Amino acid sequence: MSPEPLEPMLDLARQALANAHAPYSRFRIGACVRSGSGRLYAGCNVENASYPVTQCAEATAIGAMVAAGERQIAEVVIVTERPEPCPPCGRCLQQLAEFARPGIPVHLCGPEGLRLTTTLGELLPMAFGPGAFERDAP
Ligand code: THU
Repeated sequence: MSPEPLEPMLDLARQALANAHAPYSRFRIGACVRSGSGRLYAGCNVENASYPVTQCAEATAIGAMVAAGERQIAEVVIVTERPEPCPPCGRCLQQLAEFARPGIPVHLCGPEGLRLTTTLGELLPMAFGPGAFERDAP
């Protein structure tokens, strides 16, 4: 099976980045997730004057996917404007892991295109999941 083309995800992530609300950090991020059904959901970071209240781009994209009734992430694209590839923060990795298998590709991109492809499992090895508390209680 040939991989899905990256360009449609990249385009949506770039568009979301352009709409980022990041007046405090001036660090704009766009994200796009491809769901199990193949639909694409994009998001940007949404900051707040109360800095810790900030919502990450990945969380916005995941929220759009879940609101549309989907629960599976097959691929992720993240776009930033800095020169180096930018991995998702720890909180976003946990949020992605809720809906994705460890082997899914995570593409770290810049405005010009793909910089690095990794996997969720590489970024978050030994992830915490429901198995940790669904086992028999001690
Ligand atoms: N940010 C994201 O949107 N995703 C991440 O994975 C890392 C950080 C945002 C939060 C804040 O608006 C800005 O980047 C700087 O931390």
